[in-house]
Amino acid sequence: MMQGSSELPGTRLSITNGRLLFQDCRITLVKTTSEIIGQESGSTYDWANGDIETARTNIKTVGFTCIERMFNSQLLSKLRSEAFLKKKDAVPVCGTSQCQYQYQAHLTGLGKAGISFLTGNRILKILDILLGMPLALEKDASCYTYYQPGDFLGPHLDHAEQCIVTVILYLDVVHSDVTSDKTGLVLHVIGGSPSDVNNPRVVLPTKAGSLIIGLGAANWHERPTLQNGEFLTAITACYSRLLSA
Ligand SMILES: [Fe+2]
Repeated sequence: MMQGSSELPGTRLSITNGRLLFQDCRITLVKTTSEIIGQESGSTYDWANGDIETARTNIKTVGFTCIERMFNSQLLSKLRSEAFLKKKDAVPVCGTSQCQYQYQAHLTGLGKAGISFLTGNRILKILDILLGMPLALEKDASCYTYYQPGDFLGPHLDHAEQCIVTVILYLDVVHSDVTSDKTGLVLHVIGGSPSDVNNPRVVLPTKAGSLIIGLGAANWHERPTLQNGEFLTAITACYSRLLSA
């Protein structure tokens, strides 16, 4: 662990130089738990009570959490294949002053596999356990996102109604061979105010297969510029509050 760091008891967060850093967002698969998040391909994923509490605490205290190993390789490869096929349709987005925030990446709409994943029982169950509110996928605000070196997502809040909950599933992550402190393969959570962009409260790692869940409309967040040799493909989704009829 880096000098000047300390672990927060009961969490997977540490404080490094005054900044919260997710050291490990892996959810351990155990046998003796009370919450079972569905079944896929004959294997049952159990989510330990402690891990659920950790994820809830992370969302409550810093607005975001990350979860690893929640989805099997079959599902991930199906989504990767769809993202790969759809990449030819991806269009560059913004990066101009006309945007509400600076943003440079390529986006394209979701296909059958992406929609099915984001509206499936498994992801909805995870969101229900963590957030306890009825949510509906906003298909038009959800997409595949492709970042390459030089791309970034500037500090912003997500749409207050259309995107009260943000979900990101990292599908493909290519790291640079160069050892550098700078990387775009992290998500910075800045917090309730954009005033301290250069000193984010939380740094979430970007790892293939990991899931990010956050209250993106209430917590400023950003992705720094991807460096040479860094590439990222993700499914990025927005959920709004489901209003009862
Ligand atoms: Fe966002």
